[in-house]
Amino acid sequence: MTLGLYYGGFALTLMSEPLVRVENVSKRYRLGDQYVSALSRITLNVEDGVFLAIAGPSGSGKSTLLNLIGCIDTPTSGRIVIDGRDVTGRTPDQLAELRARSIGFIFQTFNLLPVLSASENVEYPLLQFREVSRQERTTRVEEMLELVGLGGHGHHRPNELSGGQRQRVAIARALVTRPRIVLADEPTANLDSKTGEGILQLMRDINRLHKTTFVFSTHDKKVVAKADRLVRIEDGRIRRLGVRTDTRWVLVRGAPTARRVN
Ligand SMILES: Nc1ncnc2c1ncn2[C@@H]1O[C@H](COP(=O)(O)OP(=O)(O)O)[C@@H](O)[C@H]1O
Ligand SMILES: [Mg+2]
Repeated sequence: MTLGLYYGGFALTLMSEPLVRVENVSKRYRLGDQYVSALSRITLNVEDGVFLAIAGPSGSGKSTLLNLIGCIDTPTSGRIVIDGRDVTGRTPDQLAELRARSIGFIFQTFNLLPVLSASENVEYPLLQFREVSRQERTTRVEEMLELVGLGGHGHHRPNELSGGQRQRVAIARALVTRPRIVLADEPTANLDSKTGEGILQLMRDINRLHKTTFVFSTHDKKVVAKADRLVRIEDGRIRRLGVRTDTRWVLVRGAPTARRVN
């Protein structure tokens, strides 16, 4: 957390290490003999406990940024530090270990395994941890399904559940390993707006209750309104960084004055 003390316009900020530091990160993809620049010189911090929205139009680089923070992909240049650990130059095995222990993922299309029940889908990421006993797994899976409002639905296969219920299973699966941070790539994009609102509210409640840090991408203004931090990207560059106060967004970067929310 960051503690800011303000004396007549003079800011004395006592900073602890943010959970994620993205420093001057660029990402280029090779497409045949061409290069596509997906992100250009992105610098941002994700503080512990925030509910942060990455907003921007399709193709702006949201998924790329989440994949870099999630150690699914590596930057072309720049540095990413997660929980005090510089992840640049780590081996694929080391990155997989970091992902498994520190990061949970939620996807637009839920990505549940269709042949497994809801309980088995939630249990799946725990199977790689030898130190978690079978009984502990069962207890945690039940707790997580309760948390997302699906207690009693554990035996259902994904195709027996609605879209909203599937995304709730995916949220339970993301949380079952007790990650420091959950990354959600357009988690409401495949849901109708009312169901999407419920999913976002659930994520928000978990963020408040369990202090889990959430970073989610969206191109939907209503979704952005639920966040307490905002990173707006366009064409692979940060256009705005915002912090919400009770009534308005204070733009840290990108515009000279604060704008009211809505
Ligand atoms: N694997 C890839 N190979 C080539 N280009 C890619 C790849 N992934 C993304 N891109 C390009 O990078 C840019 C950003 O994409 P993406 O991060 O998926 O944006 P968003 O999630 O905001 O829609 C786009 O121009 C996209 O076409
Ligand atoms: Mg995307």
